[in-house]
Amino acid sequence: MPANPFHLAWFGNFTVPEWNDPFAGNDPHQWMNGDFYIDMIAALERACFDYFIIEDSLMVPDIYAGTAELELKHARYAPKLDPMCLVPLLTRVTQHIGVIATASATFYPPFMLARTMSTLDHLSRGRVGWNIVTSSEDRAAQNFGIEKLPEHDLRYEMAEEYVELVLRLWESWEPDAIVMDRGQGVYADYTKVNPVHYEGRFHRSRGPLNTPRSPQVRPVLCQAGGSPRGRTFSSKYADTLLSIPAGVEEMKRYRADVRARAVGHGRDPDDMKIMYVVQPILGSTEREARERKAQRDAAAQENLELQLVHMAAVMEIDMSPFDLDEPLPTHIATNGHQSTLQSFLDANQGKTLREAASGWRVAESIELVGTPDSVAAQMDEAMQEVGGDGFLFFGQPVSRRYLNEVCDGLAPELRRRGLTRDGYDHKLFRDNLLAF
Ligand SMILES: Cc1cc2nc3c(=O)[nH]c(=O)nc-3n(C[C@H](O)[C@H](O)[C@H](O)COP(=O)(O)O)c2cc1C
Repeated sequence: MPANPFHLAWFGNFTVPEWNDPFAGNDPHQWMNGDFYIDMIAALERACFDYFIIEDSLMVPDIYAGTAELELKHARYAPKLDPMCLVPLLTRVTQHIGVIATASATFYPPFMLARTMSTLDHLSRGRVGWNIVTSSEDRAAQNFGIEKLPEHDLRYEMAEEYVELVLRLWESWEPDAIVMDRGQGVYADYTKVNPVHYEGRFHRSRGPLNTPRSPQVRPVLCQAGGSPRGRTFSSKYADTLLSIPAGVEEMKRYRADVRARAVGHGRDPDDMKIMYVVQPILGSTEREARERKAQRDAAAQENLELQLVHMAAVMEIDMSPFDLDEPLPTHIATNGHQSTLQSFLDANQGKTLREAASGWRVAESIELVGTPDSVAAQMDEAMQEVGGDGFLFFGQPVSRRYLNEVCDGLAPELRRRGLTRDGYDHKLFRDNLLAF
């Protein structure tokens, strides 16, 4: 392998794939019954991806203009099915790839989360992970009978305690607790199954878990907080971080920052794999790829409604009261994705709302446009410069066509150059992730 081989992951969700496109197929159920995602995970494993992460949120957004009409018309953020339930389907039809499910530490009771993840780790024989989020929308809180989410930094404090508790629950069965001694008629040794008696500021639990110790004990932990408080949290626990710093210099700065924070927590920073979001646009020729990019940009300009509705759902900001042709308002704030909103405002100073919104996409760290060969070279160059650790493909809404462009075009080219893994040496997800 070269000096800096890198990891590949795919960011998806259990939602409607591309549906309004000539290559989308016309079966409205195949994503809901899991078939689409079963095909998808097979492609990702064939392409030697480290993992597939399934995003989640817990609401039907009615933020834009105070109604869900446009959100459901476009079906970008909703409908959405529960990622936890998809995990065992995906791990059952694969052998090696990791699967990470998102679950909110603000709403899932910690005992339930620990138990569910532990169960999934057993079912997958050690190939699952948990994307720890704190949720970003008051709408989600209201679905759980809470009027407003706790404030941004407080959510992280609560989550920190939550993770401490979950870790203890996962450890509550000692490695040799199951004895299965037929002579004595003893299945499990009760002295090795320990209550945790956790009493925190926000969470309490007696323990032990009623789920035996799972293959990884601690499923892979994933986190994506970009704010200073978010970074303190992610660098303390996460095995893999998701991030969108803009450009190689910012990627380097972000990496240095979270790695220094990890050292401050007493960790080896190499035990934390940082994945940068990319959305490559591929073509058989450079010209075709450039044309496809131009088509995508033109579609965003034409469909400003979709842009505004999607921004509203992601940032929990309703831009409908603002004049499209006036400069972007600077006084907007969110209790949700603060770093996403901040990068949007920073990148669009002096622009009108129309200009800023038509150019907005759930960002990417570096723009990649070209043939599989040239995009592989661009990824290599960026990663050599940044120093690690991998790329998170963010192609939403996903289509089989795009998936195959990446998995059967770009990924083989990356492997041919020795830039990414060529197989999986270990049984457990974490061991593969930390192998280089
Ligand atoms: C690549 C990426 C993926 C994310 N996935 C989710 C998700 O699935 N569910 C969710 O509620 N938040 C998700 N988030 C939001 C983060 O977990 C975090 O809550 C958000 O960035 C706000 O925290 P911050 O202000 O520290 O950045 C994601 C963020 C990024 C950058």
